[in-house]
Amino acid sequence: MKISVVGLGYVGLPLAIQFARENVTVLGLDVDAAKVNMINQGRSYIKHIAQGTIAEAVRGKRFCASTDFSRVKEAEAVIICVPTPLNKNREPDISFILETGRAIAPHLTKGTLVVLESTTYPGTTDEDLRMVLEEGSDMKAGVDFHLAFSPEREDPANQQSKVKLIPKVVGGYTQACLEHAMALYGKAIDTLVPVSSCRAAEATKLLENIFRSVNIALVNELKLVYGAMGIDIWEVIEAAKTKPFGFMPFYPGPGLGGHCIPIDPFYLTWKAREFNQHTRFIELAGEINTGMPEHVMHRVADALNERQKAIKGSRVLILGLAYKPNVDDERESPSYVLMSLLSERGAEVDYYDPYVPVIKPTREHPHFAGKQSVEWNQATIASFDLVLIATNHSCVNYEELGDWAQCIVDTRNAMAGVPAVRAKVWKA
Ligand SMILES: NC(=O)c1ccc[n+]([C@@H]2O[C@H](COP(=O)([O-])OP(=O)(O)OC[C@H]3O[C@@H](n4cnc5c(N)ncnc54)[C@H](O)[C@@H]3O)[C@@H](O)[C@H]2O)c1
Repeated sequence: MKISVVGLGYVGLPLAIQFARENVTVLGLDVDAAKVNMINQGRSYIKHIAQGTIAEAVRGKRFCASTDFSRVKEAEAVIICVPTPLNKNREPDISFILETGRAIAPHLTKGTLVVLESTTYPGTTDEDLRMVLEEGSDMKAGVDFHLAFSPEREDPANQQSKVKLIPKVVGGYTQACLEHAMALYGKAIDTLVPVSSCRAAEATKLLENIFRSVNIALVNELKLVYGAMGIDIWEVIEAAKTKPFGFMPFYPGPGLGGHCIPIDPFYLTWKAREFNQHTRFIELAGEINTGMPEHVMHRVADALNERQKAIKGSRVLILGLAYKPNVDDERESPSYVLMSLLSERGAEVDYYDPYVPVIKPTREHPHFAGKQSVEWNQATIASFDLVLIATNHSCVNYEELGDWAQCIVDTRNAMAGVPAVRAKVWKA
């Protein structure tokens, strides 16, 4: 069997490799020629995807990549894993999905299965994508070609999390579409969870991400409430998670980051308006989570104040630019917001992140492009008035940090293992 995976990013690339591993021939398609070239040379551009895995699949002729979308005609199934961001008005931007639909539609052959994996609002697959595919191919979904939605559940940097072992939810436009999609994923994934429609599958993914956003907001709020009472939220969570039922730990932090949790819930908020429905939990969680960097900045001000310094003119080092530990993904990272808030107030801000040696151009923070991570050594770290831990990468030596830094603001409880330096650590 030959399939095509469109969009070879954090979701598409591991999925393509998993199919290739199960002896399915995979044609990867992407608009980014640099990624396509790297794959064809057997090289990786994502930290947690080993070069060897890609090289092996390419050498074995089970995986190759191209920018030529007409080649979807070679595939029996096409899986779409392109970005679904918010636009500048914080509304869903499904243009990448629609562009992909338009690019592949003229080349679809009868009986092909098209599956969307990008996280999106209910109705995207069977309304928006279906329309562009039908228009461009002159064929009917459910009659001439099959259509389905199956959300990705990628957990970057989690060593236990293997694409093959993560149960996969699948919804089809018709019963036959569902059966085709189940047969496809059955080749590469151990456990499949069929649901009644594409919309139910889209809604499942949103529930999963909204659940995280709301629970993170809850612990972020409790962090402030307990903090005012002199109670440490981290200690409380450690104790609460010993309950063997009915509790699941979530951890506070400097704000939400990544391509999913800060964005996806608002896909539902937008769509819900069409049905006169309000998503109050989502809005409230968003408000609390986006307020976190401001809270952290006040803690930085307090810590500097204690040392008779102001934010203005102080040198602050942000430790960790990636949005979560042990990944190189800094999309939507609250570290950028912290850098902006502190720079706006006159601080001289640098960052250290071994996984992000240089900041790439971003739409939201273009002025940081080209900035480089500082070196990790005593002289450099000690030269900052304050180190702000925004991400707790496990490769960082926190004992050295404790010894070298003048003052530390810790948003991740990363210094818990270095009690000797407690006096210079401010939890935030
Ligand atoms: N990153 C995650 O952990 C994760 C987890 C679950 C779901 N998702 C969802 O999966 C989708 C993809 O996310 P990602 O993290 O892989 O994004 P990504 O930015 O890492 O990858 C997207 C890829 O699509 C390519 N692309 C963009 N426009 C294209 C087009 N018109 N045609 C072909 N390729 C195009 C880009 O060049 C890029 O390689 C999103 O909807 C996201 O919400 C992501």
